[in-house]
Amino acid sequence: MTTTAVQHPSVVIILAAGEGKRMKSSLPKVLHPIAGRTLLGHVLGAAATLEPAQVVVVVGHGREHVVAHLAEVAPWAMTVVQAEQRGTGHAVRIALAEVRAQGIPIDHAPVVVLTADTPLLTGDTLISLLDEHQRSGAVATVLTASVDDPTGYGRVLRNEAGAVSAIVEHKDASERQRAVTEVNSGMYAFSATHLDAALRKITTNNAQGEEYLTDVLGVLDSDGMTISASMCSDHRQILGVNDRVQLAEAAAIMRDRINAQWMRSGVSILDSATTWLDVDVEIAPDAVILPNTTVRGPSSIAAGARIGPGTTLASCEVGEGASVIHTWAELAVIGAQASVGPFTYLRPGAVLGDNAKAGAYVEIKNSRIGDGAKVPHLSYVGDADIGAGTNIGAATVFVNYDGVAKHRTVVGEQVRIGSDTMLVAPVTVGDGAYTAAGSVITEDVPPGAMAVGRARQRNVEGWVQRKRPQTPSAEAAQHAEQDNASTNDSAKG
Ligand code: UD1
Ligand code: MG
Repeated sequence: MTTTAVQHPSVVIILAAGEGKRMKSSLPKVLHPIAGRTLLGHVLGAAATLEPAQVVVVVGHGREHVVAHLAEVAPWAMTVVQAEQRGTGHAVRIALAEVRAQGIPIDHAPVVVLTADTPLLTGDTLISLLDEHQRSGAVATVLTASVDDPTGYGRVLRNEAGAVSAIVEHKDASERQRAVTEVNSGMYAFSATHLDAALRKITTNNAQGEEYLTDVLGVLDSDGMTISASMCSDHRQILGVNDRVQLAEAAAIMRDRINAQWMRSGVSILDSATTWLDVDVEIAPDAVILPNTTVRGPSSIAAGARIGPGTTLASCEVGEGASVIHTWAELAVIGAQASVGPFTYLRPGAVLGDNAKAGAYVEIKNSRIGDGAKVPHLSYVGDADIGAGTNIGAATVFVNYDGVAKHRTVVGEQVRIGSDTMLVAPVTVGDGAYTAAGSVITEDVPPGAMAVGRARQRNVEGWVQRKRPQTPSAEAAQHAEQDNASTNDSAKG
């Protein structure tokens, strides 16, 4: 948190051209998701809190995919192609050249550089970085953190006065330098003109034969410029994701962070370790999230709703006081005080009214279930409108597909559909009508009618003993007959 208002950057450059070899993935590293956003998406979100005039993403590996993703989530971002990854310094150099070529003014405000694989970075930390940059009047300010194991990171070197003098990459560092535990996050604020000038002076004389952006700091120091550092108190914020182990680590940290935020705002989360909430989920106070629950965004959960255990919701809206147990739901709306589950599958377009019920082993797709209407057991409801207060008996199927096309079924208010009814669409059942259990309804049912659509029952007496003699069934029938006979005898007695 900061106290002063920071100057908005003229440009934020996000480096996203690297291959991410260690992910061993056909998907570019920065497009791997955690908590409902890609790694790049999280960094874009943090960058947006600075309200920069321009965001530039340097793309390279898998750039068709990265560019397509940006068009979707950040159409305002400009992309610059770095065809060959010749280092972070090279990436920034071509980004600045492109921005200047486009006539975008950048000298009036700081230039911020971020990497795209640090999803845990927060906007507040970036504000602190800019705050320090502004306060110190430095030409470059680097975001650093102190870590237990600095292996792989660039080390921050400071002079006797404690000011930053250079960054040395792990591969280029001496034993003594490697002992330094303050590391470079790879995120910086720069004065554009000084950055330009310093980038022209860096070389590729290093272990990796690349243009290191980090060398800019040493160059500026030699030129007598002031360099500052902003140390991030929570080193996890700068965790870079390079492989799937770090991806899982980052996801777990993000999960705990999101859950803690909701708990502090009045949501009960019984088991944070098994509760996965995307960033784009809204939860009102007094909602309760039970173990093994995942909510993908954008979703909203109203006050007093109970979600889980064992529930996955994706792009759903859950009303006040609703209960959703052991359910998989996608693009569904669940009304206030409605009850769903256990073992319920709500597919896109399922809309349950207030106080409605979708019970065990019920699948609902593209259907409206009216207020107080119930589908309690073992049913499929597809392409239907069900009126308020109607009850759908166990094992009812809305037969919506004729093999070629889907058709709708309309069931009115206060209807009683008997168990095991097949409603063959398109068909309409009027308000207050009944259907007999086991009916196949192919014709419209007028309001208030009882529809019977089934064969009459016929009992063929003695069939089992004649056709299945000596079977356990025949024996049981025989016993029943004898019992019956003796009861009759004693009654005559
Ligand atoms: C970099 C820093 C290191 C810092 C670390 C923090 C340099 C030389 N080193 O090292 O001091 O501690 O980040 O995580 O900057 N990229 C490009 N084009 C390139 C090369 C890289 O766009 O030509 C992008 C990558 O996609 C990545 C970022 O820049 O998002 C950082 O590159 P990476 O190779 O991961 O640098 P590190 O070795 O991690
Ligand atoms: Mg890295």
